[in-house]
Amino acid sequence: MKQSIVMSLGGSIIVPTDGKLDLIKRIARLLGTYCEAYRFYLVVGGGRTAREYIGYARELGGDESYLDEIGIAVTKLNAMLMITAIGEKAAPVVAENYDTALQLGRNYDIVIMGGTHPGHTTDAVGAMLCERCRGKIFINATTVDGIYDKDPAKFPEATRFHEIDTGELLKLLIGTSAKAGPNVVMDPISVRILERSRIEGLVLDGRNTRELEKAILGENFVGTRIIPAEQ
Ligand code: UTP
Repeated sequence: MKQSIVMSLGGSIIVPTDGKLDLIKRIARLLGTYCEAYRFYLVVGGGRTAREYIGYARELGGDESYLDEIGIAVTKLNAMLMITAIGEKAAPVVAENYDTALQLGRNYDIVIMGGTHPGHTTDAVGAMLCERCRGKIFINATTVDGIYDKDPAKFPEATRFHEIDTGELLKLLIGTSAKAGPNVVMDPISVRILERSRIEGLVLDGRNTRELEKAILGENFVGTRIIPAEQ
């Protein structure tokens, strides 16, 4: 049986800020190259569009879980874009839940999901999908090249972890916002899931498709490895 690889693809790497589609095409090509060897389960995030819509709805007085639902709708929209980019190797529908994703995985090399329920992000969906398909690694392809001791966008002296265990990472994530559309490098819920099921997490900059390729192949890559702590 093919090994399953679950990947959380940040919305910001799927939907270009400059209107150029090179990156989504490159990622689609990369997955097409390796989908004979691995079964890919992709969970696509909402990115800037989700944050924009969540912002509008918040201003209009929407409650947090309704804002989450709006975010989920955008993740599905982005997932449809990913299905389009991949073409016939991808299951033609966005899997609405884990059971459907697994079912589609029996017939397709690449299965795509968006968000599911309010209260978490697509990182958590990816981690749970990884539990369900017995995946050994979970790749979080985002717009930061790993996990830093402080926000690298604000602190130039921030240093990247080559490796961090889930316990340390959870300490770092204390105090991050639980509101809709938070844009945190890793959702704490996803970290707890990696820990409980002893799944290794790989965090990298998904815009760098060479590094993404290395992570898929189990080679050393530029980014951070999340090691499940003993419970
Ligand atoms: P994302 O997973 O994209 O969250 O979902 P993010 O970390 O803010 O953004 P990226 O990583 O840069 O793409 C967007 C929003 O949709 C809601 C949440 O409000 C989330 O912030 N959402 C998503 C859910 O409520 N449940 C889900 O399963 C997924």
